[in-house]
Amino acid sequence: MKLDLMGNNIGDAKVVLLLVLLVCSLCSGRVCAVDVHASIKNMLGNGNMMSIHCQSKDNDLGNQTVSDGSEFGWDFSPNVWGTTLFYCDLDWKNVSDFYFDAYAFARDSVRCKTLCSWLVSGEGMYGFNEGTGLWEFMYNWPS
Ligand SMILES: *[C@@H]1O[C@H](CO)[C@@H](O)[C@H](O)[C@H]1NC(C)=O
Ligand SMILES: *[C@@H]1O[C@H](CO)[C@@H](O)[C@H](O)[C@H]1NC(C)=O
Repeated sequence: MKLDLMGNNIGDAKVVLLLVLLVCSLCSGRVCAVDVHASIKNMLGNGNMMSIHCQSKDNDLGNQTVSDGSEFGWDFSPNVWGTTLFYCDLDWKNVSDFYFDAYAFARDSVRCKTLCSWLVSGEGMYGFNEGTGLWEFMYNWPS
């Protein structure tokens, strides 16, 4: 058995490296990459506008103004490390600087397998659960 400087078995390390390379090449070839569509819809009513600013570590989607009845959406592929996170800052007439996670892999890899849809309403935010096919009340506005 050969050991490297860290004391790891070099044979095992080679196998792990090979597996990582295999997974990466499959994913970059889009075989195992799953595209997710995220969308956030303004259902506030009464002509209320909202502004929303979402970002991840690598992408800043900008500050978007969304009119009553419209939605803002984007597509992404969760990374193979399971660390994908899109967080948003939302403002509307009654609420300012409300932070929420639009997509967090640990919470959403099953709940939002391909669709991560949100409804912004006067009482709070609803999220669509693809696993159950139900809209769930996810966030209360701060009082
Ligand atoms: C977006 O920009 C407007 C105008 O500058 C600002 O009032 C609002 O707070 C911003 N919204 C977010 C979510 O950053
Ligand atoms: C927003 O705030 C106003 C004034 O406090 C209140 O009358 C109204 O019901 C609120 N709107 C919603 C949708 O909660």
